[in-house]
Amino acid sequence: MTTSVTHDGRPASGLVTKDITPRIATEIRADKQTLLSGAHAGRIRELLEQRGVLVFPQIGFTDDEQVAFTQTLGTIAREVSGEEVYNVTLDPKVSQTADYLKGSLYWHIDGTMSEVPILASLLSSKVAPEAGGDTEFCNTYAAYENLPDREKREIESLRVMHSAWNTLFYYDPEPRIEMLRRMMAIGDQELPLVWTHRSGRKSLILGATARHIIDMDFKKSAELLVQLRDWATQPQFVYRHKWTVGDLVIWDNTGTMHRATPYDAKSGRLLHRTKLQGEEPFA
Ligand code: OGA
Ligand code: MN
Repeated sequence: MTTSVTHDGRPASGLVTKDITPRIATEIRADKQTLLSGAHAGRIRELLEQRGVLVFPQIGFTDDEQVAFTQTLGTIAREVSGEEVYNVTLDPKVSQTADYLKGSLYWHIDGTMSEVPILASLLSSKVAPEAGGDTEFCNTYAAYENLPDREKREIESLRVMHSAWNTLFYYDPEPRIEMLRRMMAIGDQELPLVWTHRSGRKSLILGATARHIIDMDFKKSAELLVQLRDWATQPQFVYRHKWTVGDLVIWDNTGTMHRATPYDAKSGRLLHRTKLQGEEPFA
């Protein structure tokens, strides 16, 4: 473990960081007050961008503390329904919008239907399931950076149609027409395959909403999208979080994909989510 150092070289007291894997995820140990003070917000934001996922083991935030911590890092994004804290569960008895989370079992980026996707999400575990229900993340910056140069050149100017309804077929292969139309009404958006961020760094934009590559033969398009997902989700780019109650995990939604591993909707698994407003459009 190393104590991190601030820009002017002073040790950032109370923030102890440890990389979990070489290419993704860092564990941060600090007490609640240190985190809530906002004193290390800049460092945490920097680490988030560099490492994709930050894990605060058993920090045990209440909802109010989670909201306050979220606000130290940027502008909190409310759910469409207005709430700041959202119940992540597959149990329709607990959340009316549980069905929309069925797609969360497949690799995705949140907000591909928006021009400016959310910057990050924070999940904290309230009830852990007995089996399954881990969350996996992959680093889409690292996945891009490690592509062979020839492949980088081949994909650099490709554009991809992202469609909310594409995710429906992952979990409901024979939907009723009403259901398909409801998902279609959510929208579509054409996005670059390679996101050139303001920082100059590049990441891949993939996931379950990726429908097809514009102006490409149907089979070739499907093949390339699957090949790139396979590439991006190789073990060296992936961190898998097994939840203990009280854990808080933040992911940089602009440089990672994520998915839940299968779990029983009735297992009681419950995570509380807050989100940070996006600061940069897809480009
Ligand atoms: C989400 C999500 C994954 C999980 O909240 O956006 O995809 O493990 N959650 O529940
Ligand atoms: Mn998600």
